[in-house]
Amino acid sequence: MMLNTFEKYLMNNPIRASIQRWYEAPLLKRIGGSTEGLHALEVGCGRGVGTQLILDRFGAATVTAFDLDPEMVKKAERRLSKYPAEKVSLSVGDVTNIQAKDGAFDAVFDFGIIHHVPDWRAAVLEITRVLKPGGRFFFEEVTRHALERSFYRTFLEHPEHDRFTGAEFVAELERRDLLVGTKYVERFFGDFVIGVAKKR
Ligand SMILES: C[S@@+](CC[C@H](N)C(=O)[O-])C[C@H]1O[C@@H](n2cnc3c(N)ncnc32)[C@H](O)[C@@H]1O
Repeated sequence: MMLNTFEKYLMNNPIRASIQRWYEAPLLKRIGGSTEGLHALEVGCGRGVGTQLILDRFGAATVTAFDLDPEMVKKAERRLSKYPAEKVSLSVGDVTNIQAKDGAFDAVFDFGIIHHVPDWRAAVLEITRVLKPGGRFFFEEVTRHALERSFYRTFLEHPEHDRFTGAEFVAELERRDLLVGTKYVERFFGDFVIGVAKKR
């Protein structure tokens, strides 16, 4: 689902970009390694900060990225216009129906979008489908613990049903042959789960 106006402000904000740059990306890289020379997909790219990090910090050769919200995709296009067209491909799209062949990508990145998807299990299934065997899924997710806090309930909008804890999210990945093992951490009293899974 789309973000409400307040969450859009929180996402399209230098503080959000700094958290992605200086905390989430380094942690994901420490856990899962680089994607040097590989083909990556970013689901729910928002305004494109993650896409830029996947290119510059993770070293991906190409990034395909999409978001449900055309306004976000326009922002991402502006941010990423300095990169050669063959390195970045942006579009409007839905993570529960990814427009790509089976096994199209070496890596998929999720910077905090799956908790916005009512049928999040379908999103996991699609991500598994488009990953090559041995491909990696880098995830940073917001859990039920966070969504139940009064700040989230008052100011932000999220699907009401079938929310996940960190352990439930990891269990669903494992059920779909996305093997996480010990390669994840929970942060801020279980509000966030961050890790990397490898497709069997
Ligand atoms: C919390 S924001 C995160 C944006 C960006 N990844 C970041 O970390 O700044 C969640 C994003 O997911 C997008 N989104 C929500 N549901 C989606 C879906 N089904 N498919 C693709 N993108 C979706 C929203 O439009 C929004 O841009």
